[in-house]
Amino acid sequence: MCGIVGYTGDREAQELLLSSLKRLEYRGYDSAGIAIVSGEITIFKDKGNINNLSKQIPKMKGRTGIAHTRWATHGVPMKNNSHPFSDCTSRFALVHNGIIENYQEIKDELMKKGHIFSSETDSEVIVHLIEDFFKEIGDTEKAVRATVKRLEGSYAILLIEKESNRIFAIRNRSPLVIGLGDGENFIASDVPALLEHTSSVIYLQEGDIAEVTPERVLITDHDGNAMKREAQEIEWSLEDAEKGGYKHFMLKEIFEQPSAIQDSMRGRWVEPADRYNHRSLRSIKIVACGTSYHAGLTGKYILEEILKIPVTVEVASEYRYSPPIRENSTVILITQSGETADTIAAAVEARRRGGRTIAITNVVGSTITREVDEVIYTQAGPEMGVAATKTFTTQLVALYQLALRYGVESGRLDYDDAKEIERELRLIPRKVRAVLDSHEDIEKVAEFLRKAENMFFIGRNINYPTAMEGALKMKEISYIHAEGYPAGELKHGPLALLTSETPVLAIACRNATFEKMLGNIREVGARESPIIVVGFKKDRRILERYADRVIDIPETIPLLSPIPVSVALQLLSYYTADMRGAEIDRPRNLAKSVTVE
Ligand code: AGP
Repeated sequence: MCGIVGYTGDREAQELLLSSLKRLEYRGYDSAGIAIVSGEITIFKDKGNINNLSKQIPKMKGRTGIAHTRWATHGVPMKNNSHPFSDCTSRFALVHNGIIENYQEIKDELMKKGHIFSSETDSEVIVHLIEDFFKEIGDTEKAVRATVKRLEGSYAILLIEKESNRIFAIRNRSPLVIGLGDGENFIASDVPALLEHTSSVIYLQEGDIAEVTPERVLITDHDGNAMKREAQEIEWSLEDAEKGGYKHFMLKEIFEQPSAIQDSMRGRWVEPADRYNHRSLRSIKIVACGTSYHAGLTGKYILEEILKIPVTVEVASEYRYSPPIRENSTVILITQSGETADTIAAAVEARRRGGRTIAITNVVGSTITREVDEVIYTQAGPEMGVAATKTFTTQLVALYQLALRYGVESGRLDYDDAKEIERELRLIPRKVRAVLDSHEDIEKVAEFLRKAENMFFIGRNINYPTAMEGALKMKEISYIHAEGYPAGELKHGPLALLTSETPVLAIACRNATFEKMLGNIREVGARESPIIVVGFKKDRRILERYADRVIDIPETIPLLSPIPVSVALQLLSYYTADMRGAEIDRPRNLAKSVTVE
């Protein structure tokens, strides 16, 4: 997500803000910008990195300011969509991190009143709304309170005002921390941006509005009631702070999944004007690589179950060189980075063959978005670890949503059934949190695997791809040779490899194939292989009879079980790799974005 910094004090703000902003570069971003108050407000912003911005901007005088690195969610990376944003009267400027869900409704209202917008972002509506309330009330603080009461979604906002040295810092489901100085104060979305200047900080809580001046920090709730927040001493090194206190980016990203999934449920569609008639949908093809391919394989089960039409899934590097048969399907390209060379080439090829193409990606404005007819954005935020974690589970969310939407629109899924699945989907972030809360139990299971050199992951039905993804995660970061297999296939070859030295992880979430799965686990037990079973908590007693170790997850409908199971498997791979001393965030020979064929 975006990075935010603010400063008010007795030093010149420009250099200080830019160097603090550079501390947030590790998060990934596509644009940067700064606003400084010196009587009037001056803003500089552009697409590209902070160095690019620094080269363009003249010396800006002023001791109060805000700055921002943007990770695009609404509107492609470009100057106009970069933060800070100002209102029509240039009285205010603000930076925002998060997603304003009801921005379109507010924007329409404000446009009718004559407000002119310069960007496609959700963030810009906030500053215009503040301007609008200010016009009516004549008081900034009151205008801010009135504004936050209208906003739905997640936001961390810093607001500055001309001829003033105060900064409003507003938090709702997006972090903000205030760094306390002597005659100066700092604000940031992340601790690393502050550490150079102070180790004394106040973490804002949900619903807090802080008014920060060089001399004081006043924190209130939406109604103006004073809120008491204790200052804390930070003892992290800069490197620890970048990882939010987690040992690795991968672990941080695994733990970010409840909010990443929640945000992706608010995912946004970019559609062509002529809305496609889903009734005529006869088949779907999914094309992707690596983890995204596994999301695609899971998508096959989801879409076939809901839409009752055939879905085929192909690895991008195979699809692009397959015979150029006319494409009668809708082709879904899945790529978190949007830059995978094989997937982009497959998108071009699918279009050339006459297919209607849809991309699911996590990066706004990435190359794939220019090669397809329609885009669905996941909202996982930047992923730094090479191993895909939160981008995978959010891809699954996009596929569930797509299936539900097509299902209802085509009349293939009953509206009430769709509502029921959606209700369960909304509970998934909470269930993922419960899996994360059991991380110590999963760490103990990892102990059981640390010496393994080979292992199998088995599953059936919708959890067969989950097993493949679990195996990929394990091999990628722990270097244990792991194979993902459909459980029913073991007896057709792989059983020959099973010994007491070959652990097998079986996914046994209760569904129509549960009994069959138990039979397969028994086959494995007969070869004396160590067995780990992942299943629903309510089945723990049964599963314990079959397994040496059990990882339980909260119950959900079988269709949605790949999300919590995958999170448990990500933790298992992580802890196993960590115990083996592997270099988790940068596994050997691998790159985050594979831009070569
Ligand atoms: C997964 O952990 C890997 N890093 C890799 O398989 C990845 O999913 C693959 O390279 C595809 O990347 P994309 O989603 O950016 O296209």
